[in-house]
Amino acid sequence: MKSATAFTVALLSLPGGTAFVLSSSRSDHSAMRRYPTKSQPTRHALLSRVASQRAPDTAAEGVVPDSQTLSEVLAAAVHAASEAGALMKAKVGADVLKTKFNPKDLLTEVDGQCQRVIEKVVSKQFPDHALLGEENVEPGAEASTVALSDALDGGGAAEWLWVVDPIDGTTNFVHGIPLSAVSIGVAYRGKVVVGCIYDPFRDELFTATSGNGAFLNGMKMKVGDQETIGEATVACGAPPGVLALGPCVRGMAALAPHVRTTRMLGSAAIMLAWVACGRLTCYWEPDLNSWDIAAGALLIQEAGGEMTDILGGPYSLSTRAIIGSNKLVHEEIRHILVEAKATRPDSTPQLKGR
Ligand code: IPD
Ligand code: CA
Ligand code: CA
Repeated sequence: MKSATAFTVALLSLPGGTAFVLSSSRSDHSAMRRYPTKSQPTRHALLSRVASQRAPDTAAEGVVPDSQTLSEVLAAAVHAASEAGALMKAKVGADVLKTKFNPKDLLTEVDGQCQRVIEKVVSKQFPDHALLGEENVEPGAEASTVALSDALDGGGAAEWLWVVDPIDGTTNFVHGIPLSAVSIGVAYRGKVVVGCIYDPFRDELFTATSGNGAFLNGMKMKVGDQETIGEATVACGAPPGVLALGPCVRGMAALAPHVRTTRMLGSAAIMLAWVACGRLTCYWEPDLNSWDIAAGALLIQEAGGEMTDILGGPYSLSTRAIIGSNKLVHEEIRHILVEAKATRPDSTPQLKGR
């Protein structure tokens, strides 16, 4: 059994100063260059928040890696998220570089910069791990599904896969709304076993490892205790595409009269983290990519909540229509969404607009 001291040392002796950076191509992992980076002031503090969370040796054989490995991967994820988060905080309100899937789908230069910061941490510490990051994939559901399936099942697929959204909530970021985050989920043999979401604007770090609970700034967190949907706070996505927006609007219209309140705040990752810490009772969205969900799904599961497909099937990395909740109200909310036909994107536009 590994000692708590070993875990703490592993967390606090993470590399700083000099680092590697990957090229922007997912397949070109050999093209690394080296350059100096400045340590971010919050990094040490962030690492010490998780240092006290020594993972017990509860790993199920053959399914979940041992606790020492999980702890090391989590520490690297926290390191990467804190570096990227510092960059976000410094550059909030950045200009739109271009639009992606449609004119509402925004990209800034900071999205790519944050992803590269994360890539260099991973490539330096875990050169045999693969990384699927939003900014290396063409926009749209199809490209994202293909990229995930290649990463999981393609020839030479790695055992470890980092699933990264460098900035979740880019529209908020562009408009100076301080509600966006770095989201990093790490899967082992296709199952998410490490999750880390960092909100640099509130300096809130949400972490979880499989089987070991979920934490907010090092304090154990749990989902809310609302027993009825009348007490539930429910949030949904605000996707840029009209086909995905249609079911969001229908679902919220159907839920609003029954629940305490509804919100559409523009960052799936933060909303999932807020379900895990009990601020929200439920979050759902009918068409998300793996990098929007991976970390948040583990946080919710480890905080005692439930994460499924909106149709009720189990959550996996390839699930796109998700609902995460405190478990107690899950089925009732899910049924209302099914009735409202809010379980998947529309095939033809049901909302008028651009
Ligand atoms: C978006 C946000 C938004 C959600 C969209 C996502 P991005 O992610 O999470 O809240 O409704 O579906 O695409 O583009 O800001 O990373
Ligand atoms: Ca996202
Ligand atoms: Ca993003």
